[in-house]
Amino acid sequence: MHAKQIRSTFIEFFESKGHQFVRSAPIVVKNDPTLMFTNAGMNQFKDYFLGNEVPAVPRVANSQKCLRVSGKHNDLEEVGVDTYHHTMFEMLGNWSFGDYFKKEAIEWAWELLTKVYKLPVDRLYVTVFGGDTGDGLEQDQEAVELWADWIDRDRILFGSKKDNFWEMGETGPCGPCSEIHIDLRTDKERSSLDGKDLVNQDHPQVIEIWNLVFIQFNRTQDGSLKELPAKHVDTGMGLERLVRAIQWKHSNYDSDLFTPFIAKVEELSGISYGDEESVDIAFRVIVDHIRAIAFTIADGQLPSNNKAGYVIRRILRRAVRYGYTFLGFKQPFLHRLMPTLAHHFGEVFPEVSDQLDFVSKVILEEEQSFLRTLEKGLKILDLIKSELAQSGKHVIPGEQAFELYDTYGFPLDLTSLIAREGGYSVDEAGFAQAMVRQKDRSRAAAEQETKDWIMVATEEGTEFVGYDQLTSQSRIVKYREIVEKKGKKFQLVLDRTPFYAESGGQVGDRGTIYSDTETLQVLDTKKENELIVHLVDRIPADPEAVFWCEVDQPRHQQIMKNHSATHLLQAALRAVLGDHVQQRGSLVNDEVLRFDFSHFAKMTDDEIEQVEAIVNEKIRDNIGLEELRNIPIDKAKTMGATALFGEKYGEFVRVITFGRDFSVELCGGTHVRATGNIGYFKIVTEGSISAGVRRIEAVTGSQAEAYVNTQLRILREVQEMMKSPRDLEKSVAGLLKEKSELRKELEAMQLQEASRLKANLIGDIQSVEDMEVLVAQVVLPHADALKKLAFELKNERERFLGVFAADISGKPQIAVVIAEELVDEKKLDAGKIVRELARHIQGGGGGQPFFATAGGKNLAGLARVEEQAREMFS
Ligand code: ALA
Repeated sequence: MHAKQIRSTFIEFFESKGHQFVRSAPIVVKNDPTLMFTNAGMNQFKDYFLGNEVPAVPRVANSQKCLRVSGKHNDLEEVGVDTYHHTMFEMLGNWSFGDYFKKEAIEWAWELLTKVYKLPVDRLYVTVFGGDTGDGLEQDQEAVELWADWIDRDRILFGSKKDNFWEMGETGPCGPCSEIHIDLRTDKERSSLDGKDLVNQDHPQVIEIWNLVFIQFNRTQDGSLKELPAKHVDTGMGLERLVRAIQWKHSNYDSDLFTPFIAKVEELSGISYGDEESVDIAFRVIVDHIRAIAFTIADGQLPSNNKAGYVIRRILRRAVRYGYTFLGFKQPFLHRLMPTLAHHFGEVFPEVSDQLDFVSKVILEEEQSFLRTLEKGLKILDLIKSELAQSGKHVIPGEQAFELYDTYGFPLDLTSLIAREGGYSVDEAGFAQAMVRQKDRSRAAAEQETKDWIMVATEEGTEFVGYDQLTSQSRIVKYREIVEKKGKKFQLVLDRTPFYAESGGQVGDRGTIYSDTETLQVLDTKKENELIVHLVDRIPADPEAVFWCEVDQPRHQQIMKNHSATHLLQAALRAVLGDHVQQRGSLVNDEVLRFDFSHFAKMTDDEIEQVEAIVNEKIRDNIGLEELRNIPIDKAKTMGATALFGEKYGEFVRVITFGRDFSVELCGGTHVRATGNIGYFKIVTEGSISAGVRRIEAVTGSQAEAYVNTQLRILREVQEMMKSPRDLEKSVAGLLKEKSELRKELEAMQLQEASRLKANLIGDIQSVEDMEVLVAQVVLPHADALKKLAFELKNERERFLGVFAADISGKPQIAVVIAEELVDEKKLDAGKIVRELARHIQGGGGGQPFFATAGGKNLAGLARVEEQAREMFS
């Protein structure tokens, strides 16, 4: 069976058991402060487990793109070094939301593995939860009995909380789990040691393939478990491991999910896989990482210097670095794997093939910039090594290795490797200490503690009424405190709210919430999964009171103008630049709208004007808003609605239309009733933010008017200054031309003056012992002229030593220049001399033995400088 068949068989099997197929959620998580990337198939269903939302169907199955590179589940360091962990992997899963439980989950897992995939029964083991006294949980005897219907009791093993109690993160849904392991060793190996002794022992051939989690609890902030309202099933099977087991391979990388990529890297590098372990690790790292990188970028996360973007940048750099060191890739190469990736995943995850050009360009640019960094780091390392050599040392200090890592992204093992090549080593303990110090610093800066929710009402969840009204009568459902260094923050959830929570680029609303007796300020509104959370200045004395909510209307209206204008802008960009324009990010607040989109060239002035003209024309047409709420996503697609890559859409969506043949978008934001409300639209800047992504900032309404007025005022002021209201461009051009001519004249005069000065000075040179010595006071326009003069004399004369006490536009400066041979023979040092003389001008300075300068405050002291210099060299 090919990987493709294995994947589709899984889905078909569970469809035959009444499950509905759902698409993989994006790999990048938005609106969940506990998670950066999807780390398990169940993430997108978290709210169903917690009871915040009701699922449309009780049974689903999917293949989810997962990434385990940060937080509770982090496998990054294992990846490539071993043969069965991955950064990005596909998790096949089946779910029951309060429907079937352990019995069916176990029965169907067994049926699929042994009857459909025909995995040999005598190689399978299962583990069940052995209980945990800390959590007050008993061993899962129920699971043991259910398994015993299918598998010998001596193949059912108890596991600890670490292996058999699955948790999504520090908090969240969790429960005991039962894992299925397979022993893929040879018969000979199996006969010498029982497979059951190798389960969960990190043996590369005895591996877990499927985890059945029986979700029943929520782990809360204080570490305790709370029983959930219903019991659920959450299973996860690593496709890569399953395929390897079915295809009977020694390693995940030998299955057809990876071999095409290995072959491509062999082709690009001219090196074969399978000959040498260190090289093989590099192969595995690269073919693993390219998947993580490509899928994350395709889902809208560009590499950057913080959070999710930084994780991706690090993964990319890890791949480049392995390629650079072990496979000889000195030029960008990762992006060249993209066509293979698009080809192999085109059917299941079309987001990559649909954006092949874009994703490849982003990767290429990152590779180029990291390779430059690598080269810069190598130079610095050379410098460090030569400094060490001078002092006879051989250990690179940990601080320096850490700085290379921190500033240049130079990993410790790379530094060590290069150091070893030159017979040096790295103080790794010192590196680790520097790392700990930095972590402590950033932890201290970020420290915050989120307390548990305090429930006020029994029902969870919020009704959002902000599409129709900006006020409402509401009750508090729950509230909590967040303790930060700076002080406390408070959050609350309402049963009904008109406050829009930040999402889709539109900022959260502000406003007030008040009861008969008190008023709270709403400082911001955000989403946590589907929950609308209000950030408020305090918790009311009586949380059970009835409250009135009032959104800050003027602010909200300006936000709506900017949001609607963003839709018009996107449509206009497509009309002017072409259909390749895809939204890559947006920010809509009450001051500005920012729109990032894919396009590969700078927009010309003409293009910008055309886009503005289209948007303003649509504004004047005063097109009415057509809003469709809760329409099936397929229907929205047939209407041609623009969707975003990396956005999680449910079965039912909201469609915002301004002119059916102009702008139709899937959108959850708030909008003006008709485009005329926007008033006026003006682009303020257009520029590049990364490979293939451009950013437009624009303003609307009265802010656009104010912007244009400011520009016109500046123009008028310049016109007045130039006294030429008509031909301003001509006048400015004339002025610039005149300025450049004057500069040329001035430079010529300065040159003449300098050679006249030099000729005079040559007459003052005196022979002192075997040297030509000049001590002189000079007046010069700038420091460069002094340096030039000193060097010319040093080069033109033999065995020259010059001391210049200079008046540089009214500031005293001393320069000392000494011919190299005098430095060597007489051990003279211009730096020492200049520091000695600088006392007289109340200054200081330094430089090299053959040239040094000093500046100071006391111009009158120059005479003393000259005097002392003459005493020194006479
Ligand atoms: N959520 C379970 C896991 O990720 C299935 O292993």
